[in-house]
Amino acid sequence: MNTPAPSAGAPIDRASLPALFAPRGVDTHKGSFGTVGVVGGGPGMAGAALLAARAALKTGAGKVLVGFAQEASPLACDPLQPELMLRNARSLLEGEWGITAWVAGCGIGTTALAANTLSELFVLRRGAPLVLDADGLNLLAQGDVKPNWGPGPVVLTPHPAEAGRLLGLSAAQVQADRRDAAWQLAQRFGAWVVLKGAATVVCSPDGSRRTNTSGNPGLATAGTGDVLAGMLGSLIAQALPFEQAVAGAVWLHGAAADALVGHGIGPIGLTAGELADAARALRNGR
Ligand code: APR
Ligand code: MG
Repeated sequence: MNTPAPSAGAPIDRASLPALFAPRGVDTHKGSFGTVGVVGGGPGMAGAALLAARAALKTGAGKVLVGFAQEASPLACDPLQPELMLRNARSLLEGEWGITAWVAGCGIGTTALAANTLSELFVLRRGAPLVLDADGLNLLAQGDVKPNWGPGPVVLTPHPAEAGRLLGLSAAQVQADRRDAAWQLAQRFGAWVVLKGAATVVCSPDGSRRTNTSGNPGLATAGTGDVLAGMLGSLIAQALPFEQAVAGAVWLHGAAADALVGHGIGPIGLTAGELADAARALRNGR
């Protein structure tokens, strides 16, 4: 656990993310931009999965499905985003949907159903990249889910308290050396780590670390983490170079909040659901 990490990478800023702004080819179709599967939204938490899914769609994914961690989908349709396909988690896991990136854990809860769903997903994803967030991380920290996620990249997105649970540290200890905490998690789990909070740290599995330069305290409101998870899944599904997808989603999420503050929509009272439209405008050069 004490292996020194490679030296620091460049800060994450707009100029370092050319793939985020590459124009679309004329000859493309929805299959060119991937299919995101969001698994989360247990009883009373459907909104967390919807926030992730809406953000995935508006940051450019070709198709987005939601598999709610409930017996049946609590909604037939998302009235604000009818493009989303809403199912239960079992349907997503067992169907042939062609999912190219998974986002799991947003509002999933810590029930046995949630734990079983995640454990099955680790196998059934068959190497497709996985973003694991929120209660997915808490289930991992509790030992209710084992990190047997097989081949294919995994991105863990803890806030400091979740990182602390995973490492057996307090949130304050994580915050005392955020870059080291991210590297410890990356080594322990063989995963990409996005350690959230002001100046989010992105760490690759081999320890190269970059610190984000965008974002503001407007993001300190419920659901913004779910939106980030959806953006990560979206850019990964769109097959941006992997490091650009991870760093790009982190930057875009913060930059969307900065743009909203520039328009007087925050920091006070900014809502998570407002981030996706602002991120879309940024990707389109506005
Ligand atoms: N400056 C910059 N960025 C910030 C700031 C700040 N002051 N405060 C928060 N953020 C960003 C973080 O970097 C992260 O991207 O906002 C996002 C917050 O994510 P979470 O902490 O995961 O918050 P939330 O969306 O409410 O999580 C939803 O997951 O973590 C669990 O317990 C949480 O169940 C809840 C669910
Ligand atoms: Mg969260």
